[in-house]
This record gives sequence, structure tokens and C-alpha cells, in this order.
Amino acid sequence: DKHLLGTKGLSAEELTSILDRAAYWEQYPVKVTGHLQGRFVANMFFENSTRTRFSFEVAEKRLGAEVLNFTAAVSSVQKGESIYDTVRTLESMGIDAGVIRMKPNGLLPELVQKIKVPLINAGDGNNEHPTQALLDLYTIRQTFGGFKGLHVAIIGDIQHSRVARSNLWALQTLGARVSFCAPQGMRADELGEHAPYVTIDEALSADVVMMLRVQLERHEGTLFGSAEEYRAAYGLTSERAARMAPHAIIMHPAPFNRNVEIDDELVECEKSKIFTQMSNGVPIRMAVIERALS
Ligand code: CP
Repeated sequence: DKHLLGTKGLSAEELTSILDRAAYWEQYPVKVTGHLQGRFVANMFFENSTRTRFSFEVAEKRLGAEVLNFTAAVSSVQKGESIYDTVRTLESMGIDAGVIRMKPNGLLPELVQKIKVPLINAGDGNNEHPTQALLDLYTIRQTFGGFKGLHVAIIGDIQHSRVARSNLWALQTLGARVSFCAPQGMRADELGEHAPYVTIDEALSADVVMMLRVQLERHEGTLFGSAEEYRAAYGLTSERAARMAPHAIIMHPAPFNRNVEIDDELVECEKSKIFTQMSNGVPIRMAVIERALS
């Protein structure tokens, strides 16, 4: 199976082999290689993106692939063309792999039944964002050397977060302990049986404090008071960060709402791995693209 739909169901061996291959690419002495010369990869974004889209593009170009960028906003999607018809169209033109981000949950398994080229999930609804989790795992392994016994607390808008789900599945497979922290309106009840919901104080005792963006664009109505009230109850404020263990790190998939879920001065503080996560997105996506086309 060359597709990458999610981290759920990937074995520890598969996850580790992607991380190891990313480490190979991180150390690679030249920026552009000929590994995927003559192969065409389409980045198909039906939802907005900065990090994922550009780091896939950098990864593909570093591997020497020909890159096609599809953006829904300036495509025939605006005339009502469906996701399937769009992907099928690009497939018919001879792409070798596709990277896809879209709003609907559950469409991807259906799509891969009908599409022959490997597809890589770049985020589908609130279901999965596997390459984000992989770059998060990579960053955690880089810092701590492994996962066994590590406590990772994921704080914020769990309900709308594909990042939380992909990290949960992958971290548990690798032996880490995951806990969630969220106000009632942002909890995902179905995940409660997999990881406990803890208080913010308990979450701050973790080795990895992973903050999530409050995803206002996915909310229907107000899920938790004002931005100030959210910051006071669940935000990573400087005062809270000062209570974290000396070895503990701060992560956030970004984009972040400064002074809502994370204080402005923490974004690039010593504990923060946020921009390291973004850098790590490139070798991870090189490994994932290569896996799809191998
Ligand atoms: N972290 C992440 O997926 O960012 P983008 O939405 O900008 O790709």
C-alpha cells in the first residue's frame, strides 16, 4: 500500500522507517537530488495551507520531481467540479503521485479505491494529518531520543483537530503516553476511551506540551467564551510555561493564534520547537513522497 491515509494502523516499524529515512534526508549533503527525476507529483489543496503545501513542494523539488500545484480557489472546483473528478483528471494526465488536502472526512478511503496513483493525505477534515504527526514524532525523537514512557499532553481544540488524532495513534503505537486537555465544547468524546482528559495543571507536567490552534473557521457558534477567557483557562501563558519541567518542550503545528492558545513571547522561546517542527516537515515529506513512489 503506497497510499498514506493516516497514522492509524501504521506499525511501529513503518513509522520508525519513515523517521529514519527523514533523518537520512536531513543529513543529505546536497539540496537537490535526482532521486525522483522524471516523476510528476501533484499537490492538490482543496483547503488552505502554508506549511504543508510549501514543505511538500520543497520536498518534491529536493528529490528532483516535477511539481504541479493545484489550488481549488483558481480551479474548475469553482464551477462545481468534484474532488474525485479533479483527482481523476490529474491522474489521466500522467501524474505519478498526489498529495491531497480536503474538508470532507471519510472521502479519502473511497477515493483510493478508484484512483490508481498513490495518494498522500495532507489533512482531511478533522480525521487525520499524518505527515504533521510524523514531523512531530521526528521532533520529539530528536529531542528525547525515543518515545517509551514519554508523556505528551495535547491541549486545545481536540474535537476539530486532525493533528491530535494522527499524533494520538502514532504516539501510542510508539509507546508514549498521551493525554488531552480541552474545554467541554472542544472535546472529542469518541477519543476519551483512548486517552484521558486531564486538567491544565496536569497537562503542564508533561514532557511535551503540544498546543493546538483554536479553529474558529470550523466552529459553529461559540465553543468557549472570548479569546481572553480561553487564554486564561487553557492558554499556554508565560506564567504556565514557567511551571513546566526544565527538560520539557513546547510544540504547536501552527498557524498559531498569538496570545490566545500561546503567549506571543513563548512562540520562539528556548523551550519552543515550533519552527524546528516546520523545518522537520521537509525531510519527513521527502521520506513520505519517496515511500509513495518507491
Ligand atoms: N500545520 C499545518 O498543517 O499548517 P498549514 O495548514 O499551513 O499547512
